[in-house]
Amino acid sequence: MNGDRLSATAITKNLGTRFIGQRTLYYPYLTSTMNIAKQEAQSGAREGTVVIAGEQTAGRGRLQRTWLTPKGNIALSVILYPHLTHLPSLIMLASLAVVNCIKATTRLKSQIKWPNDILINGKKTCGILIESGVRTNIAHYAIIGIGINIDLRPTDFPEIQTIATSLTQELGQDISRLTITRSLLVEIEKLYLALTTGESLYEEWRDNLVTLGQEICVQSGETIYEGIARSVAHDGSLLLRDKDGHPITIVAGDVTPRT
Ligand code: BTN
Repeated sequence: MNGDRLSATAITKNLGTRFIGQRTLYYPYLTSTMNIAKQEAQSGAREGTVVIAGEQTAGRGRLQRTWLTPKGNIALSVILYPHLTHLPSLIMLASLAVVNCIKATTRLKSQIKWPNDILINGKKTCGILIESGVRTNIAHYAIIGIGINIDLRPTDFPEIQTIATSLTQELGQDISRLTITRSLLVEIEKLYLALTTGESLYEEWRDNLVTLGQEICVQSGETIYEGIARSVAHDGSLLLRDKDGHPITIVAGDVTPRT
């Protein structure tokens, strides 16, 4: 088991960011970093505040799923106050930040499964959840929640055994959570500054999507769509073409390869 110790001081010391992570709240365990981050955002916490947990007891994922964070992994949430027009790009920002961070710290190549699962060798190593509070035309707050499997042994968790992996599994050796966390916060800030100064993250995100060109099923609410993933729109929607050649636009859903 990876023995490195996370603490707010270790994360923030000489981090080199302007605001992301400069205020970091570390909890050895909590329900979900999203809950604490939401309370913080609602009481006006400074932008870039990070809530990070040693262990989550009620981590949550997209589409009302649960997210497992036993000890030794990364679960964090970052509070932002972006302009409403930037909200759709946060999915792109978060997934690219993770891909860049994994590359910088491990040299491993990861890919994005639409919209923002991070896969290594076809298995999920990171999940991203974005929640926002919107007032008329203003994004009151946005919280980017990121869970990275660092030290998770999928064989210990039958429910995810065949679909999940972790950085330790892929590397065949331990990797420091502190190093990954610090690198991730730096990458998030770089991309957020790029976004807020007018750069688009769309092309880089699209080019890292493993989903494009695949024959897939997408569960979106109660509906299942089948077809070929042709492209993605600038707002992050997936553009599918069904077997009759009809275009379908999917805003949110869960992708599985068609067998
Ligand atoms: C998914 O793949 O469904 C998204 C998983 C998101 C998990 C992270 S861990 C940190 C933050 N806190 C949570 O409860 N969820 C997100």
